[in-house]
Amino acid sequence: MTKQASDNARELQGMLAVSQYNQLALGELAHADRVKIFDTTLRDGEQAPGIALSSDDKVRIALALDDLGVDIMEAGFAASSDTERQTLKRIMAERPRATVCSLARSVKSDVDAVIDTGADLIHTFIATSDLHMKYKLKMSPEDVKARAVDAIEYARAHGLQVQFSCEDATRTDLGFMKEMFKAAEEAGASSVNIPDTVGVIVPQGMKYIVGELHKELKVPIAVHCHNDMGLAVANTLAAVEAGAEICHVTMNGIGERTGNAALEEVAVNLFANYGVETVDLRKIGTTSALIERITGFPLSHNKPIIGRNAFAHESGIHVHGVMGNSLTYEPFKPEMVGVDRRLVIGKHSGAHSVKGRMEELGIGFPEDHMEELMAAIKEIAIGGKEIDDAELVAIADHVLWKKEIKTQHATLDSMVVFTGKDVTSTCTVTITLNGEERTVAKTGVGPVDAALRAICTAVNENISLEQYKLDAVTGGSDSICEATVMVKNVQDDGHLSVGKAVGLDVVRTSVDAMMAAINRDYARQK
Ligand code: KIV
Ligand code: ZN
Repeated sequence: MTKQASDNARELQGMLAVSQYNQLALGELAHADRVKIFDTTLRDGEQAPGIALSSDDKVRIALALDDLGVDIMEAGFAASSDTERQTLKRIMAERPRATVCSLARSVKSDVDAVIDTGADLIHTFIATSDLHMKYKLKMSPEDVKARAVDAIEYARAHGLQVQFSCEDATRTDLGFMKEMFKAAEEAGASSVNIPDTVGVIVPQGMKYIVGELHKELKVPIAVHCHNDMGLAVANTLAAVEAGAEICHVTMNGIGERTGNAALEEVAVNLFANYGVETVDLRKIGTTSALIERITGFPLSHNKPIIGRNAFAHESGIHVHGVMGNSLTYEPFKPEMVGVDRRLVIGKHSGAHSVKGRMEELGIGFPEDHMEELMAAIKEIAIGGKEIDDAELVAIADHVLWKKEIKTQHATLDSMVVFTGKDVTSTCTVTITLNGEERTVAKTGVGPVDAALRAICTAVNENISLEQYKLDAVTGGSDSICEATVMVKNVQDDGHLSVGKAVGLDVVRTSVDAMMAAINRDYARQK
């Protein structure tokens, strides 16, 4: 390890707070410096239903994975199409630091397709479980072995390094699997892979298989774990504990069905719990985000390491703890993997969190208005909405703005809006103005226009709407909007009064802003 690398590792170690019992239970990993990341985002990852990458997309992802520091990248399946072959060639032309690999069935034409791309490594496979041999391949075990060996020898004769997989290995007879892998080794494979093709093994089972094969083989063992039963990462780590050296993974865990072992989870665990350094952990956040964007495959919010909520804290107790020392409620600091912490203001937030956030934002909010601010936050956060910084500022502003108007001359009692396609929007409002109830219905070009006209008429024909502005404070369809309304008292001195409101409903918020402006106008007259 270079000095720079070890300094980096020491710095990252300082960001960790995993359980001390892991080290006690696991001890030192004898082959820690030989563990490699074999990334198959561009092959198994792309096979995920719903993902289809263009050639440009693939080159971009390959460069990002190379920059992240994967050791091997399975960049495609050369025989699948001409475009796939051209893409592999384009990736090879970029001369990545990582070894570039293509998948191939154990047939000559597939091997030829890989030879054509100039890839460094071929990953040949054939199914070896009784289930697959009988129902899919309709071949005898002897023929399966002969075909695997022929393909490996042919690839070796054309200068390719070979990794060989027994597809559905975890449901394959152990004696036959040993026979297959030994034959592959003799034919020239430089590594063999154990795919848990449908994610059916448990960590102890994986340890058993790897341990058994380790006794028989000289070449490094790889594992390729699918996540059908939620154990892909645990199985990969168990395999490494038993001596496996190559971890097949995909970024964001994408892959067939429920996906493959996630690169980010395997790499972080290897570092945090086994002391194994693989990729540049600090680049995980940006690489994951790039791949999420390009694939269009959304990450679940609770995805470990990189999900939106992985380092988000909302409840008062947790935020308080995190503000004291982030490791109280985090296994490691988010900067270790290049993502941000989010202290979320929402339904579960306490005044402490809100005050802390406001201070961080440089907003000195008066203590005696805090109760009202908390009530406004809770009202808006009903239904699980998170309030971000911009929204918090808008709400705080609104609370203070409202406070300036001491007496409510006009109050909105009810409002009914009728709108739709090919109908004229109509709004009926009932307001109480200085103790007198008034109901008015008006039409408009849209529901907001109808509502504001109805209020203007109900209050005073001499109030005219001078300006109206509506801003979505944030992006989503449930974002908070901020309405600003300016009214003019045309009968009186032509004075202008402004009202603001924030809320989730555009019509309601616009009406609230209008009422605030009207109250401001009345307050000025008194
Ligand atoms: O899951 C699997 O078995 C595979 C093989 C092609 C190795 O992806
Ligand atoms: Zn797979």
